[in-house]
Amino acid sequence: MLTMAMTWQARVQRRFDRAASRYDAWAGAQQSCVDELLAWLAGDIRCAGCWLDLGAGTGQLGRRLLSLPDMETVLALDLSPGMLGMAMHGNAGAAILPVCADALALPLASHALDGVASSFALHWTCDPPRALNEIVRVLKPAAPACLAIPVLGSLPGRPADTTQGSALQPLADWRDAAMACAVIEKERVVTYADHYPQPDDWLDAVRAMGITARHAGPEGLGGRQRLAELRDGLEAVREPAGIPLRYTVWQVRLRAPASTNQTG
Ligand SMILES: C[S@@+](CC[C@H](N)C(=O)[O-])C[C@H]1O[C@@H](n2cnc3c(N)ncnc32)[C@H](O)[C@@H]1O
Repeated sequence: MLTMAMTWQARVQRRFDRAASRYDAWAGAQQSCVDELLAWLAGDIRCAGCWLDLGAGTGQLGRRLLSLPDMETVLALDLSPGMLGMAMHGNAGAAILPVCADALALPLASHALDGVASSFALHWTCDPPRALNEIVRVLKPAAPACLAIPVLGSLPGRPADTTQGSALQPLADWRDAAMACAVIEKERVVTYADHYPQPDDWLDAVRAMGITARHAGPEGLGGRQRLAELRDGLEAVREPAGIPLRYTVWQVRLRAPASTNQTG
């Protein structure tokens, strides 16, 4: 029998399709990050015209962008039809256009957009140079990208194998990739933490938010031994407030080069 290995993108899409209906109820850190991205990265520039919300998920960021006075259109792009369905729910007639596609191969013309925003999504691409080059390719000359990217060091308490297999990349890799294709205008590292009473509460949250390891074994999180290891690892990082689900997030505003000669 011929069995085809599922690609990483297909696994991510499946996880987020399954998570879509519960995602907003659990995504506290992601909501805080959207607030700060808009206030800190986008608050001191004019956000106008047509922007892309990359890895839009249930559309929290896209809807907020659209409420800015000069914004005309937001493209909500995501791999997961399930997440996009939630983003478009109750959104009839609004200027949010869903695009089901991969951030690593944007189906958009070069130098077309007035801005790109992305929160808690780009780390899933696992390819900082390709992801950032695609963003810069679709931006008009000197247009901004406001990005919040979880980096390696997030999610302490997972056992070593799942941490190594995680989608998270070192901050230095994202930074180097950004400096190679754009100008870094503003940046900082922010930590977000939610706490859960028991390891199983932590695991419920992780599942509800679609989090998956990059190289999980065939048993995934369900294998009995892996689950026991995971619970032990989580107990080992318990804090007074409970078991932390902590993210280290690089918030950065980039500018595309001023001339299109400098980009592809
Ligand atoms: C944690 S959710 C974040 C959603 C939203 N930005 C927020 O802040 O709530 C990550 C989203 O990125 C999407 N995603 C992951 N990899 C992607 C890729 N390669 N291209 C497009 N979307 C992707 C997932 O489907 C998911 O909806």
